[in-house]
Amino acid sequence: MKQDAVALLKADHKTVKGLFKDVEECSDRATAQLQKLGDEICQALKVHAEIEEKVFYPAIQARTKRGEKEERDLVLESYEEHSAAKKVIADIEAVDSTDESFKPKIKALSELIEHHVKEEESKLFPGAQELFDENEMLEMGRRMAEMKEQLGAQPARV
Ligand SMILES: [Fe+2]
Repeated sequence: MKQDAVALLKADHKTVKGLFKDVEECSDRATAQLQKLGDEICQALKVHAEIEEKVFYPAIQARTKRGEKEERDLVLESYEEHSAAKKVIADIEAVDSTDESFKPKIKALSELIEHHVKEEESKLFPGAQELFDENEMLEMGRRMAEMKEQLGAQPARV
């Protein structure tokens, strides 16, 4: 399946959103299930951040000059948001699902990600669609899909 960069990243966002919802619906006592979901969320987000930081963001930076385009600032913001999310991911990975703080930590992560997704989908992605033509978008999508596979991403859930 050929997916352009934005379609691929949006699909990632949707997957993670679904996982966060599953956590919310999961009973606090279902610790095995919670652990599984938490692991999946952390893994999916680490891969997602990696492909954005290695392919998508640098491409936007390469195409824009400082102070010239809003997309450049949005990318810088996104890097910071990733960095904040990675700290929470590390916090989640430092405890297990039997810990009372596990679910609240996931909730905190979900709020960070919700904001990140909103920003990207409403501003950065439409901006990128103007900076790159269709072929470039497909090529970036291909590279990110390949990288996801190398990083051992879970197949998309249906
Ligand atoms: Fe993203």
